[in-house]
Amino acid sequence: MTVKEIFETMDYGPAPEGAGDALAWIVDQGARFGHFINGKFTDPTDEFTSSNPANGEILAKLSQAGQDDVNAAVTAARKAQGKWEGLGGHTRAKYLYAIARLVQKHARLFAVLETLDNGKPIRESRDIDIPLVHRHFYYHAGMAQLMDAEMPDREALGVCGQIIPWNFPLLMLAWKVAPALAMGNTVVLKPAEYTSLTALLFADICQQAGLPQGVVNIVTGDGTTGEMIVAHEDINKIAFTGSTDVGRRIREATAGSGKSLTLELGGKSPYIVFDDADIDSAVEGLVDAIWFNQGQVCCAGSRLLVQEGIADRFHTKLKARMDGLRLGNPLDKCIDVGAVVDPVQLKTIAEMVDANNEGETYRANVEMPVEGCFYPPTLITGLAPSSRLMQEEIFGPVLVSTTFRTPAEAVQLANNTRYGLAASLWTENVNLALDIAPQLVAGVVWVNATNLFDAAAGFGGMRESGFGREGGWEGLGAYTKPKGNTKPLAPVAAFKGDKGPGDPLDRTPKLYIGGKQARPDGGYSNNIYGKNGALLGQSPIANRKDIRNAVEAAHAAKGWSKTTGHLRAQILYYIAENLSARGDEFASRVNALTGARNGRKEVDASIARLFSAAAWADKFDGQAHNVPIRGVALAMREPVGVIGALCPDETPLLGLISVMAPAIAMGNRVILGASQPFPLAATDFYQVLDTSDVPAGVVNILTGNHADLAPTLASHLDIDAVWSFSSTDLSAEIERASAGNLKRTWVNNAKACDWQDDHSRMFLEASTEVKNIWVPYGE
Ligand code: NAI
Repeated sequence: MTVKEIFETMDYGPAPEGAGDALAWIVDQGARFGHFINGKFTDPTDEFTSSNPANGEILAKLSQAGQDDVNAAVTAARKAQGKWEGLGGHTRAKYLYAIARLVQKHARLFAVLETLDNGKPIRESRDIDIPLVHRHFYYHAGMAQLMDAEMPDREALGVCGQIIPWNFPLLMLAWKVAPALAMGNTVVLKPAEYTSLTALLFADICQQAGLPQGVVNIVTGDGTTGEMIVAHEDINKIAFTGSTDVGRRIREATAGSGKSLTLELGGKSPYIVFDDADIDSAVEGLVDAIWFNQGQVCCAGSRLLVQEGIADRFHTKLKARMDGLRLGNPLDKCIDVGAVVDPVQLKTIAEMVDANNEGETYRANVEMPVEGCFYPPTLITGLAPSSRLMQEEIFGPVLVSTTFRTPAEAVQLANNTRYGLAASLWTENVNLALDIAPQLVAGVVWVNATNLFDAAAGFGGMRESGFGREGGWEGLGAYTKPKGNTKPLAPVAAFKGDKGPGDPLDRTPKLYIGGKQARPDGGYSNNIYGKNGALLGQSPIANRKDIRNAVEAAHAAKGWSKTTGHLRAQILYYIAENLSARGDEFASRVNALTGARNGRKEVDASIARLFSAAAWADKFDGQAHNVPIRGVALAMREPVGVIGALCPDETPLLGLISVMAPAIAMGNRVILGASQPFPLAATDFYQVLDTSDVPAGVVNILTGNHADLAPTLASHLDIDAVWSFSSTDLSAEIERASAGNLKRTWVNNAKACDWQDDHSRMFLEASTEVKNIWVPYGE
C-alpha cells in the first residue's frame, strides 16, 4: 500500500472519552438535586429531568424552584453581601483564584459533564468552554485584587439575579459570577432548565473553595423561576443571557424598579468573505462560525455574505467541507458536530428550515446517527435579504448565504438586521479590513477569524442584541455603582404668575431643530413666570412631530460621529468661549428663572463642564487588549448614536450642558428636552450654539412637558439611547417603552444629583459603546 492509499483509506476510529467519572459524580449526589442556597444543597423535589440529548438517557432529576426557594436564595445572598464586600478585594481575589484552580483541576470532569448534559462535542467543552471558564475566574481574581486601587469611587451593586442559557452553560455562569463576586456582589443564579448540571458541580466547587455561605446561590427551574428572580424586590441587578424575546420581557418587567440590567441577546451575525480572502481559511473558519456548538451560539456567523466573483467556488468548497464533517456521539473526540440541546430546539430548527421555500437548500452528505437530537449541517443559498431565514436567528447548524458586489454593499447587507452582536470579515487586504470593521454595527468584529473569546476583551451587542458588556474593564461597570448615598429628588415646579412681561418686546422662543429655530408643530406654548409672578417669556410645547423632525435632523448629522476628537474639542471650547462672553446675561436669566442667586455659579460650572468634555474628547479612547490568542483585540469606543435626553429641571443651564457636552464630545447627536419649569436658559443657548460652529442637527433642543416627550423619545425606533434626569420621575415609562428596540436607557429613578459636581466620566461611559475588533497580530 502506498502512502497515498493509506491516506485515502485512513478513517478516524472512534476515540470516545470516558463518561464514568461524570456519571459517578451524578450518582454520588443521588442523581437528584435540590438547589444550592446559603452554602448547602436543599432537599430535592424531583420535578423535572435533565437528559443527554445525544441518546435521550436521563442523567438526573432536578428541582423546580418556587417562590419560597427564590426568596430563601435572595435572603441568603442579601445576608452575605455586606460581609463579602467588606472582606476587601484581596481576600475576594483569593477565593476567586481558588475557584479558578479548582475548576482547572476538575476540568475534565466539567467538560465531560457539560458534553453529557448539552450535547456539544467533547473537543469543544474540553478545549474551549472549560479553559475559558477558568481563564475568566483567574482574570477576575485580578480584578478583585485591583478594585480597591483602580476603582476607588465604585462599590458593589448588592445582590445580582443572573439568568443564563443552555448553549454555554458553565461558561455563561463564569461570565456572570466571576465579575459579580470580584466587585463584592453576591448572586442568585438560575441555569437553563436543559443544562443545570455543571452549575450544580460548580456549587460543589464553591463548597470546596470554602466560599462564605450565601455568596453564590443556585436555583434550578424553568422560565417561571426566572420570572420570580426578575420580579424579586430585594435584587439590585438582573443579568440575562438568552433570547431577544425574553430579554425584551425582562426589560419591561424591570422597568421603574431601579434594578440595573444587562442583556446579552440574540444575533444574526454576518460572515463576510471578500474576493481576495484566503478561501480555504475562510471555509475552515465557517466550521467554527456556524457548526461550532451546532450553531447554537448567539454570535454564530450564521449569515454568509460572499463576494459575487468567488461565490460559486466558495460554495463548492464549502459543500465539500460540509460533507467531511463528522456528526455523532459528542463524547467521541473525533466528532465535529454533536447533538442539539433538546428535542424542543431540534423541532424549532427543523420547522424554521422546512417552512422556507426560497433559495436552494444543501444538507451535508453525512452519516446521521440513528438516535438523538441531531441535525445535519445545512447551507441555504440564494435567499433575499428580507427572507425570514436571513433575518431570524435559527440557533442551529444552518447557514444562510447571499452575495454582494462591492464593499459598500457588503456593509449595507451586514447591517441589514435588527441585531448587532458580532461580525467576521475575511480579506487579505488590511486596508479593506480596517476600513470595513468600524462600519459594521456589531459589538465584536473578528478579522480573518471567528468566535474568539477572552476574559480581557469585553463581549456584548448593539441594537436588539442587548446592552452591557461582559469581560474586560468595561464589564465591571455593570457590577458596580458610584460610592455614596443618594438623596431623593424633589419635583421642581414652575412658578405661577399673572403679571405681564417686564419687557414689552415679545421674544417668542422656538424649538431648535437641525440648526434652525423651528415653530412647534402644535402651535402651543407655556407661559414661563419668575418667582415674583412676572411673565419671563413663552416656551413652545414640542410634540411627537417635533421629536420626529429632531430625530431626522440628528440622523442627517451622522457625519459628526466621524469627526476627530480634536475637532469636537475645538467646538466645545468655542461654545465655552461664547457662553463666557455672554456670562452675565445667562447668569441673570438663570436667576430670574429659578428665583435663586446661583446664576453666576451655574454659568461658571457650565463653562468648566464644557472644558471637561473638550478635554476628554480626544482622550476618552479605547484600549488594545493583549488576548492570549494570536491577535490583539482593539477595544474602540464608538458613539452610541442618537441620544434623547430629558435634562435636569433644577439647574437649567448647567444641567443641559452637563448632559450635552460629554455626549457630543464622543460623537453622538442629541435631542435635549430642556428643563421643564425653567426652559428659557436653553432657548437662549441656541444662539451660543449657532455662533460656535456646531453643525446643524448635532444638538437639537425641545421644550415642553417631560412626561409628554418621554414616551415618544423612548419608543422611537431611530433613537439609540434615552436618558432622563427630569425631576418628574419618568423612569418606569421610559424603561418600559424602550423595550421596543431595546435602546439603552439611563434614568435617575427619582434620585437627586448634585450638578455642581462634575460627573463627566459617567456621561462619557454612557455616551459610548465598546466595539472589540480582533485583528491578527504577532506570531
Ligand atoms: P430563553 O431565552 O427562553 O432561555 C434563556 C434563559 O431564560 C433560561 O434560563 C430560561 O429558563 C430563562 N427564561 C425563560 N423565560 C424567562 C422569563 N420570562 N423570565 C426570566 N427568565 C426566563 O431561550 P430558549 O427558550 O431556551 O431558547 C429559545 C431561543 O432563544 C433559541 O432558539 C435561540 O434563538 C435563543 N437563545 C439565544 C441565546 C443567546 O445566547 N443569545 C441562548 C439561548 C437561546
